Order: sequence, then C-alpha cells, then structure tokens
Amino acid sequence: MVVKGVRNSIKNVATYVQGNTVEDIKEKHGLNSISKLCFNENPYAPYSVCKKAIKENMDSYNCYPEEDYIKLKEMIAQKNNFSSNNIALGHGIVGLLETLSKMFLEKDDQVIIPESTFGLYEDLSRIMGAEIVKSELDQGKVDVEDVVDNINSKTKIIWISNPNNPTGTIINDDEFQYLLSNLPEDVWLIFDEAYYEFAVGPDYPASMEAVRDGANIILTRTFSKAYGMAGLRLGYAIANKEVIEIINRVSQPFNSNRAGLKGAKAILENGKEADQALKKINKSKEHLISELQKRNLEVFASYTNFIFFKTPYSAKKIAGRMLKDGVMVAEGSRWGYEKGIRVSIGKPENNKIFLNSLDKTLDELN
Ligand SMILES: Cc1ncc(COP(=O)(O)O)c(C=O)c1O
Repeated sequence: MVVKGVRNSIKNVATYVQGNTVEDIKEKHGLNSISKLCFNENPYAPYSVCKKAIKENMDSYNCYPEEDYIKLKEMIAQKNNFSSNNIALGHGIVGLLETLSKMFLEKDDQVIIPESTFGLYEDLSRIMGAEIVKSELDQGKVDVEDVVDNINSKTKIIWISNPNNPTGTIINDDEFQYLLSNLPEDVWLIFDEAYYEFAVGPDYPASMEAVRDGANIILTRTFSKAYGMAGLRLGYAIANKEVIEIINRVSQPFNSNRAGLKGAKAILENGKEADQALKKINKSKEHLISELQKRNLEVFASYTNFIFFKTPYSAKKIAGRMLKDGVMVAEGSRWGYEKGIRVSIGKPENNKIFLNSLDKTLDELN
C-alpha cells in the first residue's frame, strides 16, 4: 500500500537496515558465542556502580524524571566547567541531533556533511527537506578547507563527527580554528563528540573553549560509548545558553529516562570503572593496530574505541566470511570504502578471535 500524505522530503530517506542480530548469526552458523565488534559498544560495561543505582531505584520508575534531570545537568556542567544552562539532555546524541535538525533546518537550506561519516546527519537533513552537500575526506580525515570551500549563502549546518565515525580520525586545533574563523554568523557547526573521552588529549581541538568564546558551535556527547550505557539512551549537548534554551523549547519534556539518569549520575560520582575500561580499550587498540600493521594492512589513526583499516579484498566478502567464525565487523562499503573494515575494540579474547578469523579469511581470499 502506498501511504498517502507523507511529506515529500521523506521519500528520499533510506530505511535503516538493521542487519543480522546476534541470535540470527548463532542460529545460522551453529555457534554458541559471538564477538560483536560492529557497533562500537563498550565490552566492559554496564559498570557495577551504574547497575547498582538502576536496581536500587526500581520503585521510582512509574514517575517522570524530575530531580535527576536537573541534577545530572549540574554534574555534567561542573565536570566541564560550564553552568547547567549550557547543558541539554536527550535520548542519546541521536535524540539531540533530531532536535537540532528541527531547530535549524528549513526546506532548501543546505548542509555540509563529510562524505564518509555518521549516516544520521544525512537522513535527518533530508527529512527536513535540506539539500546535502558532501565534503571530501583526506586519508580518512575531514578536510576543513573543502568544508569551508563549500559554504555558501544557503548553508545552515555543518555536521562534523570528531572523532569521525567510521574512520576514527580527528581534526586538530589548527584545522578547527580555521573552520571556526570561516563560519558565517548564520551557519552552525554541530560538532558530534560521541567518542570524546577516547580522543581528549594534546591533539584534540579546543572545542569547549569555542563554546565559551561564543562561536556558532554546538557540541554533542554521549553516555553510550566510554560510559557503556548505549542501551539506556542518554546524551547531552553543550552550547551557549540561548541555544540551550531553544533546544529545550523544541525537544520533548523530560527527554531522558529515570534509569539512564540514575546510571549516569552514579558513573559521574564514581568514574573508576570507566577510567579502567578506557585504559583497557586503549591498550587493546594499540595492540590491534600493530597486529593489523604487521599484516601490511593500512590502518587509519584511531581516536575512538574502533579501528578502520583497508584490505586488498571486498569488505562485503570479508565481513560475510568472518560471520562464520561468529565475528561481526562493519563493512566500509556503507561509507564508500569498498575494501575497508571497521572493527570495534572488544575484550582481549574477542580481539584474538577477530584476528584469527581475519587471518583465515585473508588466506582463503588470497
Ligand atoms: C558519531 C556518532 N554520533 C552519535 C552516535 C549515537 O550516539 P547515541 O548512542 O548517544 O545516540 C554514534 C553511535 O555510534 C556515533 O558514532
């Protein structure tokens, strides 16, 4: 049946393809366990502090979230040296991105999106009727000069994932400042820092300072990755208070859930497990990168909990073959890299299974 009356702009939006579930793959290949390394999830979570807080508060889940909603914003603000009116919460970053699209985009506005990046930027922009302009990547890295060259009088939003998913790279502070200094006053840079905690360090651009300086920038962060709460759907935005006030106007009231708020507060109060997980993930990442390089595979620099590498063969073939060993990786063809693979950092035992399966697969394809 053709659904009549649907907005025209939605006709151009691709349906999200879910792919095989863990259960499907177990059944299909007769496996007992799966190494799920395709969604950039955190294998060391949920943390015990988070679980404890969620369990202890079960009796309150019949009520809308109130005090925790306010409290968590205060805690995030304090941790990052802002005031709580610089913080908005949302159902994951994706909830905030949806709000930001509604807030800014009108039909025929243009948005600039790097050619290989998080797919939702394009989907949301299309839903709002905006025109998509793609900018180039250079060695898996956002090319800020190309972004700036694409700005014109119709541009409304520049969507950048920093670090970039799927390539894992970041732009450095010089590149960031170049971008900021070329932003017209009615163009907004939405700087998606989903993997911020893995990337923060001397190479990382001064994104929070840009908010403090009043630049046209909105930062988005999440509890899904370093804090391991992907299933609890909690993200936040950092921006100047006038922007936050409009985000609050556009988004649903209480757009996060009580369990997630309890879990997030507990992790911010006691970040020991998160710090330990971060260290383990970074250590495994170094190990995996060197193993991939030993196999002469080209690996992009990674500032995230995943690695992107190139192979001599079709990513579809490689990922398909690895499923037989219970290893789930993401095919780069989704982002225009026909021979690229994105693999999330798992626990050491899963990383080992991944490497063994990759070796077998490359041997077979050779
Ligand atoms: C760049 C980027 N932004 C946002 C998200 C989604 O974040 P959340 O779980 O907070 O909605 C992801 C998840 O993979 C991502 O890679």
